Amino acid sequence: MQPEDALREVAQAVSVCTRCALHFSRKRSVPGDGPADAQVLLIGEGPGFHENEQGRPFVGQAGKFLDELLALAGLKRAEVFITNVVKCRPPGNRDPLPEELSACSVILDQQLEILHPRVIVTLGRFSMARFLPNARISEIHGQPRWVEGRMIVPMYHPAAALHQPKLRPDLEADFSRLPEYLHAQPGQQKVTVPPKKGTEAETQLSLF
Ligand code: URA
Repeated sequence: MQPEDALREVAQAVSVCTRCALHFSRKRSVPGDGPADAQVLLIGEGPGFHENEQGRPFVGQAGKFLDELLALAGLKRAEVFITNVVKCRPPGNRDPLPEELSACSVILDQQLEILHPRVIVTLGRFSMARFLPNARISEIHGQPRWVEGRMIVPMYHPAAALHQPKLRPDLEADFSRLPEYLHAQPGQQKVTVPPKKGTEAETQLSLF
């Protein structure tokens, strides 16, 4: 099966999914959007009000800001695949519950298998925790990590930076460095990450 068709099948399955209680309140499921050959996969938290209306990820304020951040990395939305750890809106935009995250993780697994992205950018702590369960985003944002052969670059969620403007320069700097990571290979130590305040450069590099 062609990857485009496989992604369509996943989206179809998501639209009728009843694996968790979020299906009771959803208007539209939001499986994700983007080309099957995308080199960059961005994973957010979950659909908000506008995404639930339109069935597309990051179409509200945070989405506008995400487009600006992608431009800093020389990327257009049409070139990347964007999805979320949960595909249906948590009511009132509350945090996704553990049972919702776990019910939806099989869908993300299928998307990862189909897409094989070069780089996975996690947006926010729920998405980061899918790959780096014990990490603190304030300590490792912008620092690439290899997890099971995949390059994960944890970043703050764009909505977090809209609410807390002090996070914005870090988020912009992290996106600006994204092009460097697109050509790294597993085990490669050449990608150098500037040491963050209070951390050891050696510790960061040894994690590659
Ligand atoms: N925030 C997210 O995490 N995902 C969306 O799709 C929209 C806003």
